[in-house]
Amino acid sequence: MKFLLSRVLSTTLFTIVFSVPSQAQALLSNEAKINTIISQMTLEEKVDMLHGKHMFSSAGVERLGIADIEYADGPFGIREEMEPNSWKSLNLATDSATFFPTGSALAATWSPEMAYAYGRGMGIEARLRGKDMILGPAINIQRIPTGGRTYEYFSEDPLLSGFLAVAYTKGCQETGTAACLKHYALNNQENYRGFVDVRISPRAMNEIYLKPFEMAVLEGDAWGVMAAYNKVDGKWCSDNEMLLTDVLRKRWGFPGIVISDWGGVHATSAVVAGMNVEMPGNRFMGKALLDSVKAGVISDAVIDQRVRELLRVRLLVQPIPAEKANKEMTAKPEQLKTAYEVAKRSIVLLKNDGVLPLNLKRVKKIAVIGDNARCKQALGGVGAGVKTLREVTPLEGIREAIGNGAEVIWAQGYPSYGAQERFKRVSPQMAPDRKLLAEAVKIARKADVVIFVAGDNREIETEGSDRVSIKMPQGQNEVAKALAAANKNLVTVIVAGGPLELETVRDASKALLISWFNGSEGGTALGDVLTGKVSPSGKLPFTFPIKLKDSPAYATGSYPQQLKGSDQQGDIFVGLVNREKNDRSQELIAPYAEELLVGYRWFTTKKLPVAYPFGHGLSYATFEYSNLTATPNAEGIRVEFDLKNNSSIDAEEVAQVYVSREQSALERPALELKGFQRVALGKGEQKRVSILLRRNDMKDWNAAIENWQLEAGQVEVHVGSSSADLRLSQTCTIN
Ligand code: BGC
Repeated sequence: MKFLLSRVLSTTLFTIVFSVPSQAQALLSNEAKINTIISQMTLEEKVDMLHGKHMFSSAGVERLGIADIEYADGPFGIREEMEPNSWKSLNLATDSATFFPTGSALAATWSPEMAYAYGRGMGIEARLRGKDMILGPAINIQRIPTGGRTYEYFSEDPLLSGFLAVAYTKGCQETGTAACLKHYALNNQENYRGFVDVRISPRAMNEIYLKPFEMAVLEGDAWGVMAAYNKVDGKWCSDNEMLLTDVLRKRWGFPGIVISDWGGVHATSAVVAGMNVEMPGNRFMGKALLDSVKAGVISDAVIDQRVRELLRVRLLVQPIPAEKANKEMTAKPEQLKTAYEVAKRSIVLLKNDGVLPLNLKRVKKIAVIGDNARCKQALGGVGAGVKTLREVTPLEGIREAIGNGAEVIWAQGYPSYGAQERFKRVSPQMAPDRKLLAEAVKIARKADVVIFVAGDNREIETEGSDRVSIKMPQGQNEVAKALAAANKNLVTVIVAGGPLELETVRDASKALLISWFNGSEGGTALGDVLTGKVSPSGKLPFTFPIKLKDSPAYATGSYPQQLKGSDQQGDIFVGLVNREKNDRSQELIAPYAEELLVGYRWFTTKKLPVAYPFGHGLSYATFEYSNLTATPNAEGIRVEFDLKNNSSIDAEEVAQVYVSREQSALERPALELKGFQRVALGKGEQKRVSILLRRNDMKDWNAAIENWQLEAGQVEVHVGSSSADLRLSQTCTIN
C-alpha cells in the first residue's frame, strides 16, 4: 500500500512517519512547532479544541496564540453570518456572497478548470469573511435520482466527481482556505440519513463511492473531511474506524482533520476512531471526553494525535483577526464572472428541432411561461443557502439577452411551491391551476415562440429528505401539453438540480434544456444560450431514467425510504438529541444490491433504455471525431483523436473516453468513463485531442489483497460525445 502509516502508529500515536504525496507535505511542515505547543497544553485545553465552540467555530488556545477555527458552509457560496449559537441571521450588511451554480451544474461543465476557478472563488470569499475552512466540496455519488442533495453533489460517476473534487479543493486551498470534503462516506440518501445503515461490497465501496474522496485526498491534498451522518456496516461514520482510520488515515495517509456533520457524533469513542472535532456541540467530546481520559479509558496519546492533526491545519491556515473579517462585501465581480463562466458551460441542450438559437429576425414576440422564470434559487429548503446580492432569474436573463429585439411577456403558468407548502407536506405533484393555465395559453397563442421555464425549486429538492417522485411538479406536464397545443414553437427550460421524468415535456417541446440551479448569473447564461451568443456545451453528469423504477437502487429494492409505522419521509432535522436512543437503523439497512452498477453502469450493462443518457448534451455546432489511436504506455493508455467543429459557430465539446473489457475475468460494467476533455473549437477548426487514461484509474479493487490491481489484457477504448454516442473505438492491450 502506497501511503501507509508506519507500524509505529498502533503503539505510539505520537511519532508518526508518513509516506505521503508531496503536496501534503505542507500540512506536515510544522511538526516540531506542534510538539512544542502540545507540550505546553493542559488536558483541558486539548479537549477544548475537540468540539464546537459556537455553531460554526471550534476553540483554539488563546494563551498560546492559537486562534479558533472558523467554518463556513459551503459548498456553493459562503453562508451568511449567524448568531453564535443559533441559525438566526445576524443581518449584516457585508455578508452577501456570490451564489455559485450548485454541484450538479458545476459537474455538467465536465471541466476541472471551471471547478478550480469555482473553488478559488469560494476560498477568496471565505477569507474576506474570516473563515478558515469551507464545508465543501460535497462529493457523494448520486445513487438515487430522488436524492434530496443531488443538486449539491456532482455526479453518478466516480471519476468525473473525483476530477472535479480535486480541482475544487486545489483552487480553494491555494487561497489559504481549507476545504472539507463531505460527507464521508456513503451518504447517498437524505431520508433517514441519521440512521440508515449501508451494507456494501468492498469493491463497490472503493471503486464507486470512495474514489472521489480518495482522489481529493491524494491528488487534491484536502485538509479537511466531514464524517457523514449515516452508518456503514453497523457503525456511525463518525465512529467508524474502518473509514476514518484504516482507509482515510492509514491507507490514504490523510494528515488533516475530520469534523463531524452537525450533531453527527454519537459516542466519545469517535475520537479514537479518528474524529477531531465534534460539531457543533460538546455532548460527547467535551466533558465526557475529559472524564474518559482522566479515567484512563481513552489515552493521552489519542488526544495528542487529534490535537496534532488540528494544529497542522490551524498553523497552515492563516487566521484572520475578527476585526479584519467582514469589513467589505463578500461578493466580488471576479467571482460573479466565474459564476457566469461555469453557468454558461453547464447548460445542457437535450433536444433541438431547429428552433434554437432564437432567430430574432423572425421572432418578435416571446411568451415566457412559468413560476420558475422568476423564482430565485439561492435560498430555500433545509440546509445551506447563499445570501446574495445578485441572482439573475431566467426571465431577467432572457429579457437582457433579447434587449429590444423582441417583446417578452411573462405568465406564471403553474402554482408556486414554497416553504409553506413544504412545511405543510403538500405534495409538489399538484393539479394544474386552471386560471393560471388559461392565462398562459392565451399569451402563448399570440407569441412567435414560447419559452416554458419548468422544473423543481429549492423547496422541492432539499437537504433532509429525498423527493418522493421525479415526475414534473406543479402540474407542469399539463401546462406543457396545453402550451404545445397553443403554439408549436415550444422551448422548455428545466430548472432543477436532479433528474426529472421528461417524456411529456420532451414530446411537447421543439427544444429542451436543463439550466440547473445555476447561481448568480444563471439567467444571464440562459439568455446567452437561447439567443446563440453561446453554444450550449454542458453534458449530463447523471442519467435521466425514463421512469424512476428503472433506476438501479429502485429496481433492486435496495433504497430503504420509509420507516415502518412512520409517515415521515425523512428526518428533516436529524434529531440532534438522543438519536442514539431512537436508533432504528436495524430496520433501515440499505443493501447496495446494484453493486458497481450505479447510474449509467446499470443501464448500459442491463441494456435498458433511458430518457437521456449520462454524458448527453447537444450543441449548436456539429463535431466530427476521427483518427483514433490508443497507445498503452507506462502511465496508462494515451488516447488521441481529431476533433473538428464542422459549423460556422465557435463552440466547445466535451469529448468522453469510455472503456469496456470484453475478455475480462472480472464482472464489470459494460462501459466505464476513464477520461474526458472539454475542447474549445472555433468555427471550422480541428484539433488533435490527447487524453491519458491513467493507469491508476484503470485499476480494480481487489478485496482479497485490500488494494488496487490492474488486470492485464485487452481493453476496448471508445471515444464519443456521450455514453450512448460513441463515435470511435480501438482495442489495445495493457499490462
Ligand atoms: C449538513 C452539512 C452542513 C452542516 C452545517 C448539516 O446538516 O449535512 O452539509 O455543512 O449541516 O450547516
